[in-house]
Amino acid sequence: MKKTARLSETSRRKVLAAGLAVAVTGAHGARLMAAESEPAVEPAVEPIVEPEPTPSDEPVQTISKSTLTFTEVEHGWDKDHHVSPGHNVQVLIRWGDPLFPAAPIWTPDFQTPDAQKLQFGYDNDFIAFMPLPYGSRSSTSGLLCVNHESTRNGLMFPGMTKPTPDELRRELVDVEIAANGHTVMKVDLVGEQWSVDLTSSFNRRITGLEDVDISGPAAGHARMQTPDDPTGTRVLGTLGNCAGGETPWGTVLSAEENIPFHFAGDPKKTSEAANHTAMGIGDERYYGWHRFYPRFDVEAVPHEPNRFGWIVEIDPFEPKTRPVKRTALGRFKHESATVALNRDGRIVCYMGDDEAFQFIYKFVSARAHDPKDRGRNWGLLDSGTLYAARFNADNTVTWLPLVWGKEPLTKANGFASQADMLIETRRAASLLGATPMDRPEDIEVDPKTGSIFVALTKNAKRQPNQINNANPGANNRGGHIIEIMPTQKLGANIDHGATTARWRFLLMAGNPADSTLGAAYNISTSAGSWLACPDNLAFDPKGHLWIATDGADAFGVADGLWVTDVNGSGRALPRRFFRCPAGAEMTGPTFTPDGMTLFCSVQHPGDGDGASFVNPGTRWPDFKDSVPPRPSVIAIRRQDGKPLG
Ligand code: FEO
Ligand code: CA
Ligand code: CA
Repeated sequence: MKKTARLSETSRRKVLAAGLAVAVTGAHGARLMAAESEPAVEPAVEPIVEPEPTPSDEPVQTISKSTLTFTEVEHGWDKDHHVSPGHNVQVLIRWGDPLFPAAPIWTPDFQTPDAQKLQFGYDNDFIAFMPLPYGSRSSTSGLLCVNHESTRNGLMFPGMTKPTPDELRRELVDVEIAANGHTVMKVDLVGEQWSVDLTSSFNRRITGLEDVDISGPAAGHARMQTPDDPTGTRVLGTLGNCAGGETPWGTVLSAEENIPFHFAGDPKKTSEAANHTAMGIGDERYYGWHRFYPRFDVEAVPHEPNRFGWIVEIDPFEPKTRPVKRTALGRFKHESATVALNRDGRIVCYMGDDEAFQFIYKFVSARAHDPKDRGRNWGLLDSGTLYAARFNADNTVTWLPLVWGKEPLTKANGFASQADMLIETRRAASLLGATPMDRPEDIEVDPKTGSIFVALTKNAKRQPNQINNANPGANNRGGHIIEIMPTQKLGANIDHGATTARWRFLLMAGNPADSTLGAAYNISTSAGSWLACPDNLAFDPKGHLWIATDGADAFGVADGLWVTDVNGSGRALPRRFFRCPAGAEMTGPTFTPDGMTLFCSVQHPGDGDGASFVNPGTRWPDFKDSVPPRPSVIAIRRQDGKPLG
């Protein structure tokens, strides 16, 4: 093992501020591997361990020792996936695979909306594993709840040579709408193989055509009303379902992210010009759905976009219950919705807004979770306080409440009510002075310390005069990860509801050999271990942080999955565990409670410049000439029967 000079965060920031390159030689010594895996720890919702002490100003000399017990996969780019030696990868379910006995066999030439409603959707993203029976900690049977974030007509439909929204037929658009949303399916492990139980009454597809309720402060507001729904309380579908979260009462929170893609028309010709422009809604035409459905044309139905961009709560254990958009959690390009159960029973939900220069949020419920009455918690997320984060120069965080009526969130700034303000959450957070970030993606809570880790995927738009404390690099093409450390206590426990915390960097991402990243991004790890564009995060039961990436191709390598310690001397020494097939992004990592199975999404394999149905970047996972690449959920297990990590 090499000796590693680890800078304390304060020292590191001083060097960053001085604009000097910092050489932090990582442990390829980490490849020597820690001999023993740690005993599994409970995935804690009530953290009881103190965060690491506030770093001093003095550099600390330590020997890096990773606790990881797997061998790294090398960087590269080819048509297949690659996993760390000694692991099995099972393709559990592909786009088009059946979810019900009546589902037709999928073939690319006979895609219909009715078939797609019975089949697994496209571009699978967030995954939750909910053990069955409800309330158990089973790791062999459960409900897999999976988001479907997007569709790609250029890759999906026979004969396509490029994305062609303006040439689509209505029936193909209807297939796309049916391929968005969410899937709930029962899965079981027999031996080493997972399978989908097509006969389960829990199986469900939620699509862009499902009736979805709207609740919370913005429900029924005039700006939520449309000709199809004069009440402003019922919307057709959920779209752009990216990352998400799980609640302690066994529901799934699905985050509506890239909703601008679904709409076309000129916002300046509408009553919602500033609002739609702030959300990036313009003459996008990415999908072209507006050609058949006026509700996707903002000039025809200016309020329809206001009904998207929310957190949607889905109850996978009650298949007949309508999903609900919980407007108290704000409207923006929601990436994540990671729940911490506070010691006092309140629910704290951490959320990112995935856009350059947008903000990190948390929602704190007004009332406490009831562990004895599941039904009472349905609606818990309808009242509470939404906060946006400001990162201060003294390494503290201030959570700024978005409460209507308090300066500057008043009529003078165009907000007539809390509902009015929530529809334009971004503008409210900006007025409060929240810190513009480098695209906040997923957020996870360290089960050992209660620290919050935030993936900031990248922001090449940031100019030198726009850098701030928590986003120290211009042209941030590689992204970075920040740790927020709650410091207030409720008895012996961390108070996630507090309005102050501390923060520090976990790592700067991107290839350190890429000189365009600038000095601030020369903090990295060993050759071969650097990662770029962190996106989805997950903790395994041992306490390792798993980091899925989206955009490493900009550095000439495939996306994939990395793992690192976040505590101890192995902190911020990531090791590559999985490499995606060409063009794919890795999303949705989640573990069974025993840490023995990792479920993950391989999203948009074969995509990229010039990729199409006729000429995809890969035909993973089928590798048949007549079959396009298919986004799929994979299950990964160790061959030696030990927990992952
Ligand atoms: Fe859908 Fe921000 O990733
Ligand atoms: Ca994402
Ligand atoms: Ca996550």
